[in-house]
Amino acid sequence: MNHDSGSRGWRVARHGASHLRVIRVPDAASATEMVLALVIETLGSSAEPSFGLATGGTFQEFFRRVVQLENAGRLDLRHATFTHLDEYVGLGPESAGGMVHELNEVLFGKLRRGVKRFSPAPATAADPAAAQAELLDTHPGIDLQLLGIGRNGHVAFNEPGTPFHHRTHVTDLAADTIDANAARFPDGNHPRQALTMGPAAILETRRAVLVATGAGKADAVRAMLEDPVSPACPASIMRLHPDATIIIDDAAAAALTDECGSTPRRLPTSVLRADDLDPGGAVAVISPHPDDASISCGGLLASLPSSVPRHIVTMTTGARARVPGGGTAEEVTELREAEVREEAAALECDTTFLRCRFYDSGVFENGDVDALVATLAEIDPAWVLAPAREDPHPTHRMTRLVLDEALLRHERMTGRPVEVWTFEGAWHQHANEDVNALVVFDEEAERRKLAAVRAHASQLARVPFDEGAIALARLRAVTFSETHFGGTEVGALDSLPLVEAYVRESR
Ligand code: PGA
Repeated sequence: MNHDSGSRGWRVARHGASHLRVIRVPDAASATEMVLALVIETLGSSAEPSFGLATGGTFQEFFRRVVQLENAGRLDLRHATFTHLDEYVGLGPESAGGMVHELNEVLFGKLRRGVKRFSPAPATAADPAAAQAELLDTHPGIDLQLLGIGRNGHVAFNEPGTPFHHRTHVTDLAADTIDANAARFPDGNHPRQALTMGPAAILETRRAVLVATGAGKADAVRAMLEDPVSPACPASIMRLHPDATIIIDDAAAAALTDECGSTPRRLPTSVLRADDLDPGGAVAVISPHPDDASISCGGLLASLPSSVPRHIVTMTTGARARVPGGGTAEEVTELREAEVREEAAALECDTTFLRCRFYDSGVFENGDVDALVATLAEIDPAWVLAPAREDPHPTHRMTRLVLDEALLRHERMTGRPVEVWTFEGAWHQHANEDVNALVVFDEEAERRKLAAVRAHASQLARVPFDEGAIALARLRAVTFSETHFGGTEVGALDSLPLVEAYVRESR
C-alpha cells in the first residue's frame, strides 16, 4: 500500500471522503440559495478560492443574487479566481449568445470590486482545445465547480456518448442542445460546435455541484441518478465524483422512482460467519496495490468454503513503494508480485496482475477498463470486493472508477448482476451507518489472514500492516458491540470477535 502522492490527475483525492449528496428543495429560488451557501462556504475556505462557473438559464437567478450581495458589500470576491465550463467555438467575449459574453454581462461587468482573475475559455483560438487545456493547466485546481444538466443528460457540452476519459475537447452539439438553446441566438445562427471541459476534468474538480430545476429536467435527472453510470447520460459522472452535490427542485425530481434517487440498492445489515458465506459463484478482490487484498479482505477470503473459486486481481505494480534495499521499478514490481503470489497461496486464491496504466499516467485510461473487463469475463464473479469510491488514496479511488466502468460493461455483456462488497482498510474506514455486512472470522482464518498480510514483507518493513489489520478487525467488533454482538450486558463480551466490515450492494 504505497502512498503515491505524486499521482497526477487525482489530486481531488486529497480532499477527504464524502458521498454523493442529493439535496431536494421545493423550488428554483431555494436551489439558488443552496448554491450561494456553498459558494460562500468555499470563499471562506481558502486564501485564493477557485470557482468553475456554468452558464445558462439555471444560473441566471444565482448570478443576480451574487451581484446583489457583492454590490451591497456582503460578498467579497476579490481573492477568488474564476473559469467556466464551455464556450461556442468561434465566439469571443463580444459575441452575444456566447458564454463569456453572458458571464461578463450578468456577472463580472456588474461587480463593484471585481475578482482576482477570470480566465475565459479561449474558443476563438486556432486550436481551442489546446488553448483551453493550457489555460486549465495554469489555473489553480477548481475548488467548486458549478454544473447544469441538459434535457438530454449532457453536462457542460459533453453530449451523450462522450467517453468519460475525455478532457477538454471540441464537440459537435446535439440537435436537442441546439433546440434547447435556440433563444440565445435569435437570428437563428446557432453555432454547431462548442469547446467543453470533459468528464475526466470535471471529475478532477475538488467539489462539484449540479443544479437542476424545472420539469424539463426531470427525465435527465432520473437517468443521472437511477440509470447505470454511463456515457449515455454524461451527467451520471456525478456518481463517480468524490465530492458531489446535486441540488434538485421538486419539479426536476418528479420522475425519480427512489426516495431521492439513490445509487445501488443496499441490503439489510447482517452478521455473517463462515457458514453464511455463500456467493453462489466465484469471488474476486480488486486490489488497488499488491497487498490490499489480504489487509482488507483476508478474513472473508479465508472463511469462504473451499469450493468457492477466489481471485486476487492486482491493479497496479506498486512500483513506487519503498522497499528494503531499493530497486528499479521493474525489480520492485517483480518483488511485489512475488509477494502477492505468496499472499494468494495463504488464502488459496488465483492471481491476475493488470499493471494498470493509470498508475503511471495518473488519469483514467480506457485500456485499463478493457483489461479488467477481460479479466471479469474469465473469472465471472458473483461477488466483487472493491475499494470505496470515497477512499482518500488516489490509486484506490481510480481503481474503483475503473471497476465501476468495467462492471457496467461486464453486466451488459453477461446480463448477470454482480454483488459489490466495498471493503475498508488502512486508508479508509466506512461510516458506521453505511456498513451492512459484518463478516466474523475465526482464529484459523485470522492465522491465514495474517500469513497473507505478512507475505508482503517489503511493506511490513515500513508499517506493521499485520497489526493494523487485526486492530481494525477488533475495533469493528467494538464499534458494533451493542447493536450486533450482544454486548449490552455486563460480562457479555469478554473477548472480542474479529470482524471485517463491508458495504454490500446489489446492483
Ligand atoms: P440551462 O442549461 O441551465 O439553460 O437549462 C443547462 C445545460 O444545458 O447544461
